[in-house]
Amino acid sequence: MIKSRQRFLNGGYYQPLVDAILNTINNCPLSFEQKLLDIGCGEGYYLQQLRNIAERSNANLELLGLDVSKAGVRLAAKRKLNALLVVDSAYKIPLFDHSVDTVLSVFSPISPDETARVLKTDGSLIMVGPGEEHLIGLTAHIYDQHQPHAGNFKALDDHPAFALQEQIEIKTTVTVNGADIFDLLTMTPYYWHANAEQQSKLSALDQLTTPIHFYLRIYQNKYPKRSITCCD
Ligand SMILES: C[S@@+](CC[C@H](N)C(=O)[O-])C[C@H]1O[C@@H](n2cnc3c(N)ncnc32)[C@H](O)[C@@H]1O
Repeated sequence: MIKSRQRFLNGGYYQPLVDAILNTINNCPLSFEQKLLDIGCGEGYYLQQLRNIAERSNANLELLGLDVSKAGVRLAAKRKLNALLVVDSAYKIPLFDHSVDTVLSVFSPISPDETARVLKTDGSLIMVGPGEEHLIGLTAHIYDQHQPHAGNFKALDDHPAFALQEQIEIKTTVTVNGADIFDLLTMTPYYWHANAEQQSKLSALDQLTTPIHFYLRIYQNKYPKRSITCCD
């Protein structure tokens, strides 16, 4: 799944999402001069895009990546990102309280409590989830009726630490070529829902045209820094 994801993303199909993430960070007060944690970083595609732009603009961007998958973090490390990477859980982040300026989460599980704990007060959480039409050109080959994925926004919307600042919708159509189609299938949970016949039909296609549809939400952390009273 992770290798398929890496090959597919490296094909640039999600470039409109990358542009939206980079614009969001560029437009925040700290721009690329900050400490950013990617929770559920996988094989490091988005960290790589961030490192590339920071190098081009000579910015002092401190990158941290966390994923529960050892295989994912190993592939991310091979990118030589000049980032601190760790195999651990989003529900138990090995960082001090209020120690990062921005958290990024792309299609990954998130713990609102842990994220609020490690984010600085007024720091931003950039959360990306699927829109209703995401990959319906692919799912049409698998299901009679497309069931949109709800994403992980609800837990954040209901959490007192997070105030929604803005939602950006990214929607376009891409044409996926040749072997990239099977990588697209394999990198999603749809792979497990496709039967052998559907899988082989998809692998035989030369091209697949599908909408890609994302919501990028920016939340601000409202949790104040805890004052630490010391110790007998
Ligand atoms: C759909 S992938 C997205 C990866 C990456 N953000 C991207 O968009 O390419 C979801 C990622 O979340 C990771 N993950 C799942 N449960 C996790 C957890 N409890 N803590 C940290 N990462 C987790 C998986 O290992 C996987 O890399």
